[in-house]
Amino acid sequence: MTRLAGQVVCITGASSGIGAACARTFAREGSRLLLAARRLERLEALESELRAAGAAGIRSVALDVRDREAVIETFESLDAPWRDIDVLVNNAGLSRGLDPLHRGLHSDWEEMLDTNVKGLLWVDRVVVPGMVERKRGTVIHIGSIAGRQVYPGGNVYCASKHAVRALTDGLRLDVNGSGVRVMSVDPGMVDTEFSEVRFHGDRDKAGKVYRGMQPLSGDDVAEVVRFAASLPEHVVLAETLLLPTDQASATTVHRKG
Ligand SMILES: NC(=O)c1ccc[n+]([C@@H]2O[C@H](COP(=O)([O-])OP(=O)(O)OC[C@H]3O[C@@H](n4cnc5c(N)ncnc54)[C@H](OP(=O)(O)O)[C@@H]3O)[C@@H](O)[C@H]2O)c1
Repeated sequence: MTRLAGQVVCITGASSGIGAACARTFAREGSRLLLAARRLERLEALESELRAAGAAGIRSVALDVRDREAVIETFESLDAPWRDIDVLVNNAGLSRGLDPLHRGLHSDWEEMLDTNVKGLLWVDRVVVPGMVERKRGTVIHIGSIAGRQVYPGGNVYCASKHAVRALTDGLRLDVNGSGVRVMSVDPGMVDTEFSEVRFHGDRDKAGKVYRGMQPLSGDDVAEVVRFAASLPEHVVLAETLLLPTDQASATTVHRKG
């Protein structure tokens, strides 16, 4: 039995990439998985694999984290044991476009800010009060190297992840003394659907992002998230910058050939 066995672990954006990898990792720990994403069919397709891996229970919910009322309604209508969330992996997020700011699309900016900043906030706002009441719980924000460094064309995505960093620090200050732990895991390049989404489905463009280098996998990130969550309750791995060996900064990437 691990420390995480039987714990209710909520993962937003569990239908793909880092979130789906976290679902698989926490399933192997015997956790109860509360999975959220817009593509419910993707979550449901994962369920049998997660059960076979050891998940103690699974609840999949269709949720657009941008929809504040839906977030409140979804979490407030949960019954036991799902409403007592032990670990929140607030991961749902995306990038759109890589245009210079002066040529950027308003719709891309709104989507990123509404998802990465406001969506993350709506979920924290409805989940954290229960943790404070129970005097225990772990919140893990998935930030990014883009929350620490800015790169050309990254403007609004970087701003959104800088905001996540500020919100991680702000929440940690605000819940200090409550027993609730607040952490962030900030990855560099991870091979997920992220780049395909950034380039609006252009797979060729997305593939070039990882050309000649070995990015992180979703599993690499999930392993750090699992480690952070499994630490004894008096320990907070406050922030982690996780990079592929081939990446030294947001813009310094070693490529073969
Ligand atoms: N890949 C990287 O290089 C990288 C690096 C640093 C940080 N990150 C961060 O890691 C997180 C996960 O991204 P990923 O790389 O795993 O990309 P991904 O494979 O595209 O997964 C993104 C997940 O977020 C969900 N999502 C997006 N918008 C949502 C919304 N409005 N409501 C609910 N769920 C939503 C998606 O589910 P649905 O589409 O089904 O809703 C999907 O499950 C993001 O916060 C991203 O910024 C990624």
